[in-house]
Amino acid sequence: MSKKNIALIGFMGSGKSVVSKKLAAILKREAISTDDWIERREGRSINRIFEESGEPYFREQETQAVREVAGKEPVVIDCGGGVVLNPQNIKELRKKSIIVFLAASPKTVYQRIKDKEDRPLLKTADPQTRIRQLMDQRQSFYAQADYTVVTDKKTVQQVCEEILHLLAHE
Ligand code: S3P
Repeated sequence: MSKKNIALIGFMGSGKSVVSKKLAAILKREAISTDDWIERREGRSINRIFEESGEPYFREQETQAVREVAGKEPVVIDCGGGVVLNPQNIKELRKKSIIVFLAASPKTVYQRIKDKEDRPLLKTADPQTRIRQLMDQRQSFYAQADYTVVTDKKTVQQVCEEILHLLAHE
């Protein structure tokens, strides 16, 4: 298999974090999350960054995180759900990474995130509508991936196996 990085993109709750950790363990690579990178560097949570400094500031930090993380090799990168919005991030990732889109339905996403408090963009009176709106807006961005794996009703192990199968000939 290719020594390139594997970069996981996809909506919040699509399974990127758990899948990246498991995949990294299988491949004996390091898993790096852009969100964790930002939180460590900033010394505050994503929620607090959004609250105190706003989304544009967060996106700037995210672009720096991608630039830094995408330069390492070979790692598994867990990209925050909005990384795809900036074409510069995709360009940076493509240099050394195979990009895999983890797709999940709005219903699955809602089930996975509904009891969590760590998604500032979904803190609204009607998160289900918000999920559908954001997903619609982002569909074409996620479609830039090299491969797509649907994660609905699948275990983390199954998703990892599918990814490994797809990448076997890379
Ligand atoms: C975001 C996704 C989050 C985090 C931030 C913004 C987004 O990451 O980066 O809350 O714009 O979709 P996860 O996709 O890991 O939840």
